[in-house]
Amino acid sequence: MKVLIVGSGGREHTIAACVAKSPKVEKIYCAPGNAGIGQIAECLPIGAMEFDKLVAFAKEQAIDLTIVGMEDPLVGGLVDEMEAAGLRVFGPRKNAAILEGSKAFSKDLMKKYKIPTAAYENFDDPQEALAYLEQAKMPVVLKADGLALGKGVLICETLEEAKEGVRTIMEDKKFGDSGNRMVIEEFMTGREVSVLSFVDGKSIRTLPSAQDHKRAMDGDQGLNTGGMGSFSPTPFYTEEVDAFCKKYIFQATVDAMAAEGRPFTGVIFFGLMLTEDGPRVLEYNARFGDPEVQVVLPRMKNDVIDVIEACIDGRLDQVELQFEDNAAVCVILASEGYPVSYEKGFVINGLENFEGKDDYHCFHAGTKKTEEGIVTNGGRVLGVMAKGATLKEARANAYEATKWVNFDHQYMRNDIGKAIDEA
Ligand code: AMP
Ligand code: GLY
Repeated sequence: MKVLIVGSGGREHTIAACVAKSPKVEKIYCAPGNAGIGQIAECLPIGAMEFDKLVAFAKEQAIDLTIVGMEDPLVGGLVDEMEAAGLRVFGPRKNAAILEGSKAFSKDLMKKYKIPTAAYENFDDPQEALAYLEQAKMPVVLKADGLALGKGVLICETLEEAKEGVRTIMEDKKFGDSGNRMVIEEFMTGREVSVLSFVDGKSIRTLPSAQDHKRAMDGDQGLNTGGMGSFSPTPFYTEEVDAFCKKYIFQATVDAMAAEGRPFTGVIFFGLMLTEDGPRVLEYNARFGDPEVQVVLPRMKNDVIDVIEACIDGRLDQVELQFEDNAAVCVILASEGYPVSYEKGFVINGLENFEGKDDYHCFHAGTKKTEEGIVTNGGRVLGVMAKGATLKEARANAYEATKWVNFDHQYMRNDIGKAIDEA
């Protein structure tokens, strides 16, 4: 089989590494990919939003399966275009990817189908949003409706801050057209958990729970980032929580999308908050989480191609997912200054230390191959992942492995999974 993966981050490197393990796969292409992906796949000079070129390439090369890793092409309708060209593709169509593409849509869906989430109101008009805030309880959460690289969420402690937030999102358009609409939502407290799942339009199969660390600095200080590390499983995701989510959230979401005439095939990422009143949905994403997927997919025993094909063909109900009974931790090695400003182009040493080690992976995010070798090419550069019998062991292994690689101006958090194994 020839497989094309669309995307260029640590998520796509992880998907590529799992696809490469399938005996069914002869050749992997990735558009556009990165230096790490280039070691197991042929990287193409095609961007993830160049739909015409992607379709043309897949047709010319008779690609058997395309896997779309990133949200932008999904929300933009790449899957629809590939299907229209008679290609086989894994990911939600545009009318289902809206689950991530519009927070107002997803909130209305949850309200209509009684899926537990924070109380909210949607606004198209900044004046109405400002008026609503006058009687809202603080703190309050403001969310730009559309995709905003995970940055369109503002948690406001005071009325003044919240008013400023509405202006930032809806009038100054800090997050672009994403801010044409916004959601104002009740502030919740509790542990955050991510559950990733495969969905075939009717059935759902979940992967082990995970958690990412979004803040840039130790102790959850500093700015929000794309994610500085992750671990799985999280001990807070108990059997009781799982039973609740299975009953009121996971299948309910899949059924709701089908009932709306928007059957969802692909990956749903449930961002959950475990509140005192039970689990609530914080957000949905229409693809794997990054860096959550790094700590769950490599622990799946099934052939990932079999699972993806079962999703496309609507027979996921016949598949049982099996996972290694262990834990994993992923520490992101970033460029100093991320997420604000940072330099690129520093040579990365020691990548060969990961070769041939089943329980350790070095997933590339922002890297590039040059004549001098592989160099840094982004804020998040590498994801060092290690497995272990327990979270504590996985964490010790992952931090040990961070010493195997180095580049100038390297930065990482030192407490990924820490509060957890000490809890
Ligand atoms: P989202 O992109 O919707 O996941 O929001 C980003 C982050 O903002 C989440 O991971 C939470 O940490 C926080 N957040 C979002 N919604 C709420 C809420 N209703 N209450 C408290 N925190 C929230
Ligand atoms: N780790 C959060 C995300 O992928 O959106």
